[in-house]
Amino acid sequence: MTDDLFPVPATWAANARMNQQSRAADHARSLTEPDAYWLERAQRLDWIKAPTKAGNWSFDEADFGIKWFEDGVLNVSANCIDRHLATRADQVAILWEGDDPSEEPRHYTYARLHAEVCRFANVLKSAGAKKGDRITLYMPMIPEAAFALLACARIGAIHSVVFGGFSPEALAGRIIDCDSKFVVTADEGRRAGKTVPLKANVDAALAECPGVKQVVVVRATGGAVNMTDGRDIWLDEAAETVSADCPPEPMNAEDPLFILYTSGSTGKPKGVLHTTGGYLLWASLTHELCFDYRPGDIWWCAADIGWVTGHTYIVYGPLANGGTTLMYEGVPNWPTPSRIWEVIDRHQVHTVFTAPTALRALMREGDDYVKATSRKSLRLLGTVGEPINPEAWRWYHHVVGEDRCPIIDTWWQTETGGAMIAPMPGATALKPGSATLPMPGVAPQIVDAEGAVLDGATEGNLCITGSWPGQMRTVWGDHDRFFQTYFTTYKGKYFTGDGCRRDEDGYYWITGRVDDVINVSGHRMGTAEVESALVLHADVAEAAVVGFPHDIKGQGIYAYVTLNVGVEPDDALRKTLTQWVRTEIGPIATPDVIQFAPGLPKTRSGKIMRRILRKIAEGDVSAQALGDTSTLADPSVVDHLVANRAG
Ligand code: WTA
Repeated sequence: MTDDLFPVPATWAANARMNQQSRAADHARSLTEPDAYWLERAQRLDWIKAPTKAGNWSFDEADFGIKWFEDGVLNVSANCIDRHLATRADQVAILWEGDDPSEEPRHYTYARLHAEVCRFANVLKSAGAKKGDRITLYMPMIPEAAFALLACARIGAIHSVVFGGFSPEALAGRIIDCDSKFVVTADEGRRAGKTVPLKANVDAALAECPGVKQVVVVRATGGAVNMTDGRDIWLDEAAETVSADCPPEPMNAEDPLFILYTSGSTGKPKGVLHTTGGYLLWASLTHELCFDYRPGDIWWCAADIGWVTGHTYIVYGPLANGGTTLMYEGVPNWPTPSRIWEVIDRHQVHTVFTAPTALRALMREGDDYVKATSRKSLRLLGTVGEPINPEAWRWYHHVVGEDRCPIIDTWWQTETGGAMIAPMPGATALKPGSATLPMPGVAPQIVDAEGAVLDGATEGNLCITGSWPGQMRTVWGDHDRFFQTYFTTYKGKYFTGDGCRRDEDGYYWITGRVDDVINVSGHRMGTAEVESALVLHADVAEAAVVGFPHDIKGQGIYAYVTLNVGVEPDDALRKTLTQWVRTEIGPIATPDVIQFAPGLPKTRSGKIMRRILRKIAEGDVSAQALGDTSTLADPSVVDHLVANRAG
């Protein structure tokens, strides 16, 4: 790993909200005077009744529980819309770019957003939804998805967004788990020129969900769908019959805001529950600090609303900050690998926030697709979701940002609500591959397998020792599972499940999930480290590395390698890459097996499914071992990997 330092550019140092000294002082105070600190920070929100208490939590079994601002009252949608009306009713709140580049972009001002959300909220109310009810959203990336989130928040209903790429089975499981009586969907979605039959999927799912009473359907493509009498209603028709005003429901800070299902290392997906006050504060504060966001900046988080990144950084953070948020229906590389950069030029985007996997895919296509665009509007580049290999980081910085834009690598999780370890552009010198330093109130700790605290420059398992406002509050319907999953591995601490290194400067380097760490001949190694070395090679586009049982070494290293377009896979290249890794990291990192793979099994959010890769590497390719592959972006990838197993 490289420790090269990229200093804060002078313009950022001079103008940003925080510099290196003030960031350090602010962080120190957040931990020494947490009550005063957080009650001050809470003033950035608009409270119906301001809180007098900040955090009230314990990670110990006897009195386990997490509360923030527990006597405060507010409404999230009023914070994201109504309070901006006096000063920026005519400013664009949501800027929408369709999948097809020839489609006209849509602009929704704060005034228009208010009307749309109020009508949507009244439609939900007239369908019978009320405070505390769960409403499942299964939506494409259209403005109505954001309206739906805000409409739920307005009436105090709890939204549960299920990614529009999940199968009917996955959708049904999530509807049943939280006992949703309402579903919001669209006729169809659109992605990369194809349509996704959302309503038909809902119909299939609902065959297993008799509890669902009403389905609100957004007309998105105009495609033909079946409507079930008495159950299904069109949003546009219903919206005409309701008022354009809907007073926001006063909510306690600890009332639930949303559930979002996420996979753990065991069992079925967990319904991560976030509440009202702490989550919104965390979304808004981290969006402002990590990206030095100012109203007027065109902000683009290129995630899907089906993931926490979409919740926090497409909708809640930027709108709470009175921003202009770009919502994009499509994918970064369609119709051409220039699309993402063309959207940036078209809308004069100031900050783009995306995932390393997208960057690697684009990098593989070559620089010409980037260089064909201007990108002069860009000031900042963000990344999230997985460790970014220094190679992709440098490409993002140099080719995309022309050495001008700091890279904001944000480490966090569905469970944390928003960024936890991340740079601030005016305050933090960057190191490619490091998420850098903790956000206010975040106290990271690195422990060894037995839980002993490791100080100074070290490597181990990442825990957070205290609560922060954006922390999840429970697993829906299973509070004990919440406690068992996160607070028992290392008693009294939140365990992230991630491995982490801290360097001499106190910078944090996430090495990947701890279940991805392998042990070769007694040496612990981050699979991300080997991957990073492999992708440094000019012929390699992407690599995924897993461990497999090895008679002598305990575990061996199995590398799946995707080559750049036009490179021929052969034994000579296999040898070259093996030697390459030995030279980059050392002989202990020598891959035992390299399998060339035209594609890797990924979830629709772009996460590589290592569980499947581990099974194939182990030679356990039964259907039972491989598990459900239907939710993968491209399930056929798995067949190819199995048929071409190496080793
Ligand atoms: C990983 C996504 C390294 C990590 C917001 C974490 C990262 C998991 C980074 C959470 C990053 C996320 N660097 N690893 N910047 N961001 N991760 O819940 O392993 O989808 O535990 O939340 O992604 O994934 P989740």
